[in-house]
Amino acid sequence: MAAEGALAGPADPVITLRGVWKTYRTGKIEFTALKDIALDIYPGEFTAIMGPSGSGKSTLMHILGCLDHKDSGSYVLNGTEIGDMTANELALVRNQEIGFVFQSFNLLPKLTLLENVALPMVYAGIKRHERLERAREALESVDLVRWAQHRPNEISGGQKQRAAIARAMTLKPALLLADEPTGNLDTKSAGEILKVFAQLNRSGSTIVLITHEADIARQASRIIQLVDGQLVHDSSGRNAPPRQDS
Ligand SMILES: Nc1ncnc2c1ncn2[C@@H]1O[C@H](COP(=O)(O)OP(=O)(O)OP(=O)(O)O)[C@@H](O)[C@H]1O
Ligand SMILES: [Mg+2]
Repeated sequence: MAAEGALAGPADPVITLRGVWKTYRTGKIEFTALKDIALDIYPGEFTAIMGPSGSGKSTLMHILGCLDHKDSGSYVLNGTEIGDMTANELALVRNQEIGFVFQSFNLLPKLTLLENVALPMVYAGIKRHERLERAREALESVDLVRWAQHRPNEISGGQKQRAAIARAMTLKPALLLADEPTGNLDTKSAGEILKVFAQLNRSGSTIVLITHEADIARQASRIIQLVDGQLVHDSSGRNAPPRQDS
């Protein structure tokens, strides 16, 4: 059920955006952060989103993650139009189909790493014993088991981000979204985080990652570029015309 006129991809897209606009209104001031975005992301793709500060990257990510609403246009996620979903259905999608990793980790300071990683499974209604077992396995996959009982303020930035990735992946979401996940990390920790993403991608995860750094973007299989709220370049050639100057 590919959208009319779309190029055939390897499978149905995980994400299809068409004609997406977003304007922020603060008092009398309006700012249009996204302008007519069309984007298709296919299963197994590792997409990096680049662009200057203020170009709309996080806004786009928030819409992809169903954390914020677009003003107009269509967003189909795994075959379902997001605009047609009820609040409860959307909460379920956010919990089960999407994993998030943020620049600032967003771990809860009073919980241990094990409890942090297990938290999305609480909302998913998974029993405590299974939650803890699966959280332990997730920590093992990012090499953090020995820190399971520590709290976030007792570990390094790179370790926090690995725990955040483990948390994002425990429910095996179809889509992993990361907004500058290495922005607060030193080069060595950033490299380790990238390895984790590459490994997840090899095992089938679809990843969309925002980054300012060309080195990091090069690890992705596809780079798209936003400028002033418009998608101006797409290395796959699918959603934007190739740039004249490249
Ligand atoms: N909640 C908001 N209210 C009003 N304006 C906003 C809001 N969030 C973002 N904006 C504006 O929308 C534009 C795009 O912001 P966005 O956060 O998407 O940029 P970005 O590309 O992620 O930038 P950065 O690289 O600095 O993180 C900016 O001009 C910003 O000021
Ligand atoms: Mg941002």
